[in-house]
Amino acid sequence: DHEKMMEEMEGMDGHMSHINPIALNDSTGENELAIPPLLEQKNGIYHIAAQLGTTEIFKSVQTETYGYNGSFLGPVIRVNKGDTVTFKTSNELSEPTTFHWHGLEIPGEGDGGPHHLIQPGKSKDVIFTVNQEASTLWFHPHPEGATAEQVYKGLAGLIYVEDENSKSLALPNDYGVNDFPLVFQDRQFDDKKQLNYKAVLNEDGTIGDTLLVNGTLNPKLTVGKEKVRLRLLNGSNARNYTFQLNTGDSFQQIATDGGFLNEPIAISEITLTPGERAEVIVDFSKFNAENDISLVNEAGNILLPFKIGEHKTRETTKSLENLNDFAVTDEERNLPVSKRLELFGMGMHVTINDKQFDMNRIDFTQKQGETETWEIYNKPDAMGGMIHPFHIHGTQFKIVSIDGKEPSASLHGWKDTIAIEAGQTVKLAVKFNNKGIYMFHCHVLEHEENGMMGQVEVN
Ligand code: C2O
Ligand code: CU
Repeated sequence: DHEKMMEEMEGMDGHMSHINPIALNDSTGENELAIPPLLEQKNGIYHIAAQLGTTEIFKSVQTETYGYNGSFLGPVIRVNKGDTVTFKTSNELSEPTTFHWHGLEIPGEGDGGPHHLIQPGKSKDVIFTVNQEASTLWFHPHPEGATAEQVYKGLAGLIYVEDENSKSLALPNDYGVNDFPLVFQDRQFDDKKQLNYKAVLNEDGTIGDTLLVNGTLNPKLTVGKEKVRLRLLNGSNARNYTFQLNTGDSFQQIATDGGFLNEPIAISEITLTPGERAEVIVDFSKFNAENDISLVNEAGNILLPFKIGEHKTRETTKSLENLNDFAVTDEERNLPVSKRLELFGMGMHVTINDKQFDMNRIDFTQKQGETETWEIYNKPDAMGGMIHPFHIHGTQFKIVSIDGKEPSASLHGWKDTIAIEAGQTVKLAVKFNNKGIYMFHCHVLEHEENGMMGQVEVN
């Protein structure tokens, strides 16, 4: 009955939620974390193929998966600001897909939204000049009606943008040694250990009891007694994570979705909703091999145990200041609101401004290079409502305010996805540096599929 239903909808943080939470299993730390390969390139040409495969996620069991240049997940694509690059993409799946570069400021025709379907056996070249600062971005498919399932089966990878600043800073940057990508994705495997998406699909966000980090089940990460940089991506369809250390120790956040913070900030937890990234530095120099130290979530589930190896402290212990010069200007603060969006509903009935996505409808227009204030309101419903991670393609925006107040220091940097809680209103300063048609949507992938998405045409 009603009361029971309301109870079931009580989220784990006590807030009302449409999702009945499924607890995550603790990582047993059995398997060393997989580190995705860095994608080789020649003369700025990168080959990226979406492929079918099978993967041994569980010992001696083959799970049917998708991957980029492999059977599961994808490589890290590293690009430099100022370089002109070609992504040679090809679809080796048996269904149409697209290649979307989440967080990349790229002309609309290369963005890989739902308009850019690539049929099986076909290829597409995307050529552009990297024109944004150092950041950790990612890529995933975006075909209408199949985004959530294709991501769920394994199509996701990271993009690292580097620039003069990131190369000159005294940050840990030895890939796979003291600078690690961490892609967090929860999955629900069936009794044959397969990813049967349709069987577990939840219209308000598909979640599962099994966490994979970089595709590794029960991962552990061996680190040195030194400062280690973790590039966190919430690549889940719907689950939120509040990352903490089990010891309660603080760590330093150095970056948001689209660039460095002005200076590192000490925090003891950070929440990422689907699509969001953050870079943090954990100082392992004060820990020993005997210490039991893990990354955990808000419920205390062990996400990633660390094993402290014996190699000695490197010279990355210099203190770090002046990472960036990000600012929200007075002009941006005082701009009148020119676009208003209202996120509402649940399940199949999610809307933006009372409308569901229509590929043939342009919802807004904006001029290239002009900053506008977007005001987005997450309207609660009878059930209370839920967090919608709101994402805009083709741009990095600034958060001007959340419910009229300054955002926390953790959000004082470039963003392309923002967690908006039920009842909240956020103001964003949004500028597109390129032309084209770009999506904006909720990054709970099932909400996006159900039409919580619109299009802005930049000209
Ligand atoms: Cu991460 Cu529309 O995408
Ligand atoms: Cu949503």
